[in-house]
Amino acid sequence: MKKIAVLGYGVVGSGTVEVFYRNKAALEKKAGDELDIKYILEVRDCPDERYRDKFTKNFDDILNDPEVKVVAEVIGGLKYSYGYVKSALEAGKSVVTSNKELVAAKGAELLKTAREHNVNFFFEASVGGGIPIIRPLNQCLSANEIDEIAGILNGTTNFILTKMIKEGMGFDEALKIAQDLGYAERDPSADVEGHDTCRKICILASLAFGKHVYPDNIHTEGITKITLEDVKYCESMNSVIKLIGFASRRGDEIAVMTCPAVIGEESQLAGVNDVFNAILVRGDATGDVVFYGKGAGKLPTASAVVSDIIIAAKSDHSSKTMHWEDSAQDFIIPYKKLSNRFYVRANADKKTVNDIFGEVRFLSRDGAPESECAFVTGEINEAEFEEKCGRLNVLGSLRVLDY
Ligand code: HSE
Repeated sequence: MKKIAVLGYGVVGSGTVEVFYRNKAALEKKAGDELDIKYILEVRDCPDERYRDKFTKNFDDILNDPEVKVVAEVIGGLKYSYGYVKSALEAGKSVVTSNKELVAAKGAELLKTAREHNVNFFFEASVGGGIPIIRPLNQCLSANEIDEIAGILNGTTNFILTKMIKEGMGFDEALKIAQDLGYAERDPSADVEGHDTCRKICILASLAFGKHVYPDNIHTEGITKITLEDVKYCESMNSVIKLIGFASRRGDEIAVMTCPAVIGEESQLAGVNDVFNAILVRGDATGDVVFYGKGAGKLPTASAVVSDIIIAAKSDHSSKTMHWEDSAQDFIIPYKKLSNRFYVRANADKKTVNDIFGEVRFLSRDGAPESECAFVTGEINEAEFEEKCGRLNVLGSLRVLDY
């Protein structure tokens, strides 16, 4: 019999317990052992909960119980989770987590701690919700040099953008629905300002390129400045706006960024709507492989947590293959050196635009005021783009990405 502890009983924690007991018999067959959840760590009183006899407010109950072999951390944030996870690993318990902030900030260190104590640290649920991506990237695609990863990695913002594009809904109303559906982070600024996507692309990049990529070193923009006017202009060029995280190999260096971007309708990422995520991985042997599914929500995320629990429960030793090095960040190209085409909406006349940007593609939309001008530039680097924008009254701009 292997005993499990679940840290946190919010959306993902309660989903984890639900999926575990719903499929317990089948999970035990897969694990080749009897399994049970012995503890649920939760600070709130939950007197009416079905599993109230398992609740504890004291992490030491879990840490000091030798029966507990696997700990599932689904609290989120760093404040409590880092200490709990580190001490559980040091006590010889495997840990699985859905906590992307923790993995993005402390992944290299916690993987090392797990190896040193011959246990596992798994985090399939930290990227892409219910989509299998961590293990496929680490194992099934391991024959490849990964040249590129690009993805729609945040369900909340993709839901909001879909509502804006398809229904003309305003930003705040769409965010409220996403929160009610349990997609958004406790503080939704992590979603809409791009930090959640940034953490996820950092995890994928660390795994693919073997060196820890820290979120603080990555240029990150969210979707709060996108307007329905931008949506309309992009429509006029058969394109949509998506929040993209990308990591791209450029020789010995990598380019990594999170930004809202204009994507052509023919792209495999363009038709990914609502809470769905998609992750495109370009391997030197496979070419493009695309992973698609629900990127947030109680049961899809719980699915990934419970799968990790089963694999951790089955294993008597550290897998050792899930690994990346801690590292100086000198292999990350400063974003101002990167080049793109850009979409721009400005208060300007066409002549001024041509004088500053040279040849551009002008766009149109119904009902645009006389003073407004929208266009797409040629390839230009970020620093140069910023300098040129300083000479115009820019209302909005987006990178145009080819995926
Ligand atoms: N807030 C996240 C999202 C949850 O919307 O994608 C899943 O990581």
